[in-house]
Amino acid sequence: MHDLPLIAARCWIGRQAGVRSLAPLGSARSLVAVAFLQKPPAIQKPIRLLHSRYGAGPCGLVRNMLRWEMSMGAEAQRTAARPKRIHERNRPRRTTMAEAGTLHDAFIEELKDTYNAEKQLTKALPKLAKASSNPRLRQAFETHLEETQGHIARLEQVFESLEEKVRGKHCDGIAGIIEEGKSIMAEDFDETTMDACLIAAGQRAEHYEMAAYGTLVAWAQAMGHTEAVTLLQQTLDEEKAADKKLSGLAEGGINQTAADAAHPDDEDDETMAGAGAGRKGAATARTARR
Ligand SMILES: [Fe+2]
Ligand SMILES: [Fe+2]
Repeated sequence: MHDLPLIAARCWIGRQAGVRSLAPLGSARSLVAVAFLQKPPAIQKPIRLLHSRYGAGPCGLVRNMLRWEMSMGAEAQRTAARPKRIHERNRPRRTTMAEAGTLHDAFIEELKDTYNAEKQLTKALPKLAKASSNPRLRQAFETHLEETQGHIARLEQVFESLEEKVRGKHCDGIAGIIEEGKSIMAEDFDETTMDACLIAAGQRAEHYEMAAYGTLVAWAQAMGHTEAVTLLQQTLDEEKAADKKLSGLAEGGINQTAADAAHPDDEDDETMAGAGAGRKGAATARTARR
């Protein structure tokens, strides 16, 4: 098949497909044979199918081979471009100073996160209060709910002082802590044990907030956002006070009452062994009785 347009077409296809030779001279059958030799095994199957379908008519075969080669040429170009794109993705992004994230950006993101955390807590605290049996504990959660609403208002003031739109971003950390609290509330504990567990859940949230506000205050100080420092410090102090109040309730009787319910026979042993070594003494006494 010494057909000049066909030869020109083959050469063009060869360039497109990145194949050096597509048998510039030869019959349709030799074209198929060369394609078999030059193409990887993965694409021999379509050639074979093409051959079995159009093998009887060389003109039809050549026409379809050309179409197929053209599509393969386009695919070869796409494949050649792919590694380059991956390479570009892995390359460190060249950014100007204006595009790069700064501590101020991180500060705003942290504010959004904390704003959302506070909003989540306004829904969680009433549940903790409702689940509490000890009236002082219930009161502590209710008081902190009111404070939390004040924390939201303060954060809004911080956004405004920085001329930023008030916006939250879902806080996964507090969401996890709240989920844990829900699991505890679903447990079948006696009243005082439940109170001890609610304190533990509440303190997890308070410590999370203390970490967040501690960071926010430090960053605001470092960047000279004085109004933000004052507002955030007030909230940090209230979080610390709430945590301290919960510790006071736990250590002021709730933990011990729950512990006594758990180990009613150990009371005398613990009294004798003293507060510091009470648990160890009780364990020894239990062992001796067996
Ligand atoms: Fe708070
Ligand atoms: Fe709090």
